This record gives sequence, C-alpha cells and structure tokens, in this order.
Amino acid sequence: MTHGAPVAPGAIGPRIAALVPLDRPLLVLAPMQEVTDLAFWKVIADYGAPDLLVTEYFRVHADSRPERHILRSIRENPCGVPVLAQMIGRDVPALVRTAARLQREAIAGIDLNLGCPAPQVCNKEAGGGLLRQPGQIDAILRALRDTVAMNLTAKTRVGFDEPGQFAPVLDVLCHHRLDAVAVHARTVREMYSAVAHYDLIALASGRLDCPVIANGNVSSARAARAVVAATGCRGLMIGRGAIRNPWIFREIRDAWSGATAGRPTLADVRDYIGRLHRTACDPGAPESARLGRLKKLLNFILPGIEPSGELVRRARAAASERDLFLACDEFLISQSPFDAEARRGTPCEALV
Ligand SMILES: Cc1cc2nc3c(=O)[nH]c(=O)nc-3n(C[C@H](O)[C@H](O)[C@H](O)COP(=O)(O)O)c2cc1C
Repeated sequence: MTHGAPVAPGAIGPRIAALVPLDRPLLVLAPMQEVTDLAFWKVIADYGAPDLLVTEYFRVHADSRPERHILRSIRENPCGVPVLAQMIGRDVPALVRTAARLQREAIAGIDLNLGCPAPQVCNKEAGGGLLRQPGQIDAILRALRDTVAMNLTAKTRVGFDEPGQFAPVLDVLCHHRLDAVAVHARTVREMYSAVAHYDLIALASGRLDCPVIANGNVSSARAARAVVAATGCRGLMIGRGAIRNPWIFREIRDAWSGATAGRPTLADVRDYIGRLHRTACDPGAPESARLGRLKKLLNFILPGIEPSGELVRRARAAASERDLFLACDEFLISQSPFDAEARRGTPCEALV
C-alpha cells in the first residue's frame, strides 16, 4: 500500500506515526458537523488535499446505526488520502459495536470525540461532557483498544470548565496505546473564540508517545509555523481556516519545502465561492435551503475580507442567490490579494 493512500475496506493500513512526513507536520482537515461532508471534501480536493481526513461524527447510542451520508463520504472519498471515522457517545457496548462495524469500511481508524461543546451532547455526558469523567474515558478507550486493530485516536479539548482539568485526562490518554491525539487548545466552556492554550498542547506532546496533532486557529502558513514551534506537535488539524482559505494545505506544504506560493486574490475567493455553490449546495433543494447552506459557509469566509464590512452586511441581507452573488461580484472581482488571516467568522457571527 502506498504511503498516505486510502485504506482498502477492512485492511489495517499504516499507523498514523508512519504517515507523518519527515520534513513537515501531518496536515489534517478538522471534522466539522454539517460542513466537512462529502461535497466539501470534493471542493477541498481541488485546492490541495490534507494528508488525513476525519469524518463528521457518527452518533453512537444503544440503538444507533452508522449514518448513511457519513458512510457515503468514506466510500466516495475524493481526496485520495486516509480517513478516520469519528464517533461520539458514552455507551461502551454501543461504541465497541459501532467501531467493529466501521472497521469493515475503507477507513484508517476510529477517532473518539472528546470535545463537542453542544449542550445537548454535553448534557448526556458525551463529547466534551466526557472530560468531566476521566474514569469513563478510561473505560471507553480500554474497550475500544481491545476492539480496534486499526488506528485508534482521540480528539480532545483541554478540560471542561478550566485548563487545570486537562492533566487527569492526559493521564488517561497516556494509558491506551493511542495512535494519535488531536488537541483543540480550548476548554469546552471556551467554545471557539477564547485565547488558545498552546502550552497545554506542548504538555501533551511531551507526555504522549504517539503523534500529537495541534488544533485551534491555524489560519495561515505563518500561524502553522508558530503553532508547531510553540507546541512541538507532529501534526496540525485545521478547521475554520480551511473553510476560509482552501489553499491552506498547499500553502503550508510550500512553506515547509521553501517553494514560493502564489498568493490567491479576491477574484480567486469569488471563484471558490462559486465552486462551493455548485458542489456543496444541492441543486435539487429549494433556493432557501441552498441560500442557507451557502450563507453558513460564507460566515467563515467573508468577515474581514474587505475593510468596509459592507459585503458581510449585504450577504446577511440577501434574500436570493442572485442578490448574494451580485454582492460577491461587486466586492470580490478584484486582483487585490486575499488576506486569510484577517478576522475570521465564528459560528457566533452567523449570517443565517
Ligand atoms: C461548524 C463546526 C462544526 C464542528 N463539528 C465538529 C465535529 O463534528 N467533530 C469534532 O471533533 N469537532 C468539530 N468541530 C470542532 C473543529 O473540529 C475544531 O476543533 C475547531 O473548529 C477548532 O479548530 P479551528 O480553529 O481550526 O477551526 C466543529 C467546529 C465547527 C466550527
């Protein structure tokens, strides 16, 4: 099997440590529910794929079955790179059963979500809610490690209420021969916008035997270098930065290889928005649904892209796709350079 190629259904494939390039960090597209679906992966594949993908999460409970649309993204993976299947849940037998079932698919491994801050998830003590119960994480990982012959990874935040809660979680993560751990440098309470605790990713890098993948606010090759230097991580997981700037994986590879990357222009961003519309917005859906989907994505792309803020205002007010694209054309048909680092959208600044 070729290094970094997709894994055949049921095959065990390489360990994540073997996927980490010698000369740069492993690049991972962060899982983002209702964003990083098959359609979004298709768009990203055109701009320069990451080295590893993670699915949206499979919801796991006593009666659950793997969601078909997520299975489809695994089966039709357009990026030509390995995929981890992410699960969210707290029921040990259900997680074991689902992991066994998912291992029959073309995945490189199973990832456990220990970070989702949604109240409906945390109130059931799943996702980020599990960070309040290191003992339950221990029980889940012990059972999963006995079942999962492929890579077993976890994606965690650095505590539930405050960063002091990370140390006991890290103690547990150290005990289960995990193949990689992705650390989002915020607590659950901090959601998406507080200052990132990169020092705690550095702590994880020093303690875990497996590759640590740093996550949080990597929005450019410059930020990528800073996060690698601050954390000693072996991989970078990028979420909102990749929605805003789909060139980011190529730019990071170029930065590490010394190549001079061509800088995208606002016109390139306009072209990207058109591609998102054609690929990620279902042509069979009502216009209101397509508009809603596009506005959700634009929420991560448009803030700060031009100094007046008028484009965000017009996009927010657009009642039709035509109005939305008229506004985009007015502000983005320009050879001005695109500044990926200018203020990014967060889910709190929803356009919809
Ligand atoms: C819209 C959205 C959906 C997300 N869904 C998931 C998810 O399904 N699983 C998960 O582990 N993290 C999820 N996250 C968290 C991201 O994977 C990532 O940890 C977070 O956005 C911080 O990284 P970033 O600063 O690069 O965006 C989501 C984030 C966003 C913004």
